[in-house]
Order: sequence, then C-alpha cells, then structure tokens
Amino acid sequence: MYNSKIIGMGKYVPENVVTNEDLTSIMDTSHEWIVERTGIEERRHIKKGDGNTTATMGVKAAKIAIERAKIDKNDIDLILFATLSPDYYFPGSGVIVQHQLDIPSCPAMDIRNQCSGFIYALSTADQFIKTGMYKNILIIGSENHSGGLDMSTRGRGVSVIFGDGAGAVAVSRSDDDKGLLSTHLHSEGQFAEELALIGPSTNRWVPEILEANDSEDISYYPNMNGQLVFKNAVVRFSEVIMEGLQHNQLTPDQIDMLIPHQANLRISQFIQRKFGLSDDQVYNNIMRYGNTTAGSIPIALTEAWEEDKIKSGDLVVLAAFGSGFTWGSALIRW
Ligand code: UT7
Repeated sequence: MYNSKIIGMGKYVPENVVTNEDLTSIMDTSHEWIVERTGIEERRHIKKGDGNTTATMGVKAAKIAIERAKIDKNDIDLILFATLSPDYYFPGSGVIVQHQLDIPSCPAMDIRNQCSGFIYALSTADQFIKTGMYKNILIIGSENHSGGLDMSTRGRGVSVIFGDGAGAVAVSRSDDDKGLLSTHLHSEGQFAEELALIGPSTNRWVPEILEANDSEDISYYPNMNGQLVFKNAVVRFSEVIMEGLQHNQLTPDQIDMLIPHQANLRISQFIQRKFGLSDDQVYNNIMRYGNTTAGSIPIALTEAWEEDKIKSGDLVVLAAFGSGFTWGSALIRW
C-alpha cells in the first residue's frame, strides 16, 4: 500500500483588509468585543471588481502549491475542491479550477463539509493514493464569505467572524514512511440547522422567496447558534485529536505542531491548554484572516511552513469542527 505526502503548499488572500474598526462604521460592534470573544483583529474581503472568486482564489493558491511541489500541472490526477461558497450553485468550483489551470479532462470533485472540508478532502485524497488509483492530487480549500454576510447590526454575531481566502496543497504518492499517518472523520446531522444557510436552496427555491416578498426573511444569510457551536467545538476538537493520537499509539506530548481550524482563538487556546502545548506548538492566524472555513487549515499550514515552524520528522496534527456538524483530524509525520 502507498503512503501520501503533502509536497507543496500555497495560499492566497484578497488584498482588501477589513479591520474591526472598519466594521464599527457599518454595525454596532467594537474592536474590544471582537478581540475578546474571537481573537480576530482583521480579515480579508473580496472587493467588487477585484476579479476574485472562490475558484480564482483557489487557482492562485494552487499555482504556488504546484510550483513548490515541483510537479507539472499535467501530472495532477485529481482536483478536490473544499468550499461552502462555490462560484455557482452548480457545477462545483473544482471544474473551474481544472479549466483555469488548463489540465485537460482532469477529474474534479467538490467537497461540501464546511469548516471540516479540508480534512475531509485530505482523507479522500489519501484513500485514492493508498489504493494506487492516483499519484498526484491537488486539494484546494477556498471561501468567498464576504458577499453573502449580513453586514448590518442584525448579522454581527456571524459576520464579524468570517473572512475570504484560499489555501492549497499538492498531495503525492510517497514510498517512505513519512506523510499522512491517519485521518478521522465524523458528522452529526441533527445539528445541521444550527450553523447553516437555509435558503436559497432546494428546500427554499428563489421563486418561493421572491413570491413570499417577506422583508423579515433573512434565510439567505448564514445563521449560527454561536454558543452551541462553541460548546460542541471544544469537545469534538479534543476527542478527534485524541482519537488520532490513540490510533497511532501516540500521546499529546509527542505533538510538535497543532494546526486547528481557525474558528475562534478562544477555542484554539482551550485545546492548547487541554493538551498541554506551548504557544509555539499551536499555529494561529485567525487574528489576521478571521475564519476562512475550508481555507483556514491550508492557509495556516502554508504560513506555518513558510515561517519554518514545521520540520522534517515533526508530528503535525490538523483538526477541524464546523457546520454539519462535521469534524475531523489528520496526523502527519512531516
Ligand atoms: O468554524 C466553526 C464555526 N463557528 C464557530 O466556531 C463559532 C463558535 N462560537 C463563537 O465563537 C461565539 O459564540 C461567538 C464569538 C460567535 C459569539 O460569542 P458569545 O460569547 O457566544 O456571544 P453571544 O452570541 O452569546 O452574544 C453575547 C452578546 C449579545 O448581546 P446581549 O444579548 O448579551 O445583549 C449579542 O447581541 O454580544 C452581542 N453581540 C455582539 N456585540 C458586539 C453579538 N455579536 C456582537 C458583535 N459585537 N459582533
């Protein structure tokens, strides 16, 4: 059986920086409230006309990942695109990447697992590589949140948290014992509507929304039961990291770098304390980008690597929790 290994990483975030102070001019919030509850200081938002979409940001991140992986784009056997904000309702954004990267008829698949999307994609890539079906897989996590958020005071509990951006990795077949050790995935669909965008959807088609002509209807904005999400997140993050460690007969003190999905700095700090990790064993960049959902782990992984915080032989743990609810972890011997 083959092993899979991350051999290249890249990220792209829009240039437009939106600070907490900027938000105070459009909604009733404050820098202090946002920093105290989330750790976020600023995020990036696509600016109308800057040419960025979920797919094009993914392409920019992917080009860097492919170059660093030192592979030819035509050697990519599969594109996995994780997002909750695809360019179109259908088709998925993966096919746009296939076209924009100009890789003739390369299969492309979108993964719809929100904040856990990157971990789900990594696990999917690992299976295709282990079976021998594919050798090189491009994974992208990308989100365009900003255009679809309620940027009024009514939406402040959700909209201050999310940012736009993309990360990408190239995963390849490897013959040595380094690479992905295991992945662990879970979901609990009874919580589907606790963090969701209800409509437009097949549950609530656009004509129905228009016909209702209800000015109170805000189902087309994401809604979140923040406290419930928070409480579940701290439990599930801990469980799924522990599950991965136990599966590999490892213990928390053997973790060299934990890269949690950037949901909330308070959640990351809780996990850090729980596993007894030092500040330099946990990578956080939510301060600068907010929560970029499927983009968050590949962006953070790229930055941690660029900052030389991950070394060959390190045990790197990735973990995520989010809408679905879905959660998962991946353990990597770097
Ligand atoms: O990626 C996974 C997805 N998301 C998460 O992991 C998020 C998990 N949840 C959270 O991070 C937190 O629940 C939030 C940061 C979203 C909210 O923090 P909270 O401590 O749970 O606040 P809350 O929703 O209970 O709101 C407390 C108060 C409310 O006012 P009252 O009712 O006490 O008067 C809110 O209206 O804070 C108010 N509030 C705000 N005030 C200023 C909510 N949002 C804001 C805001 N600025 N942006």
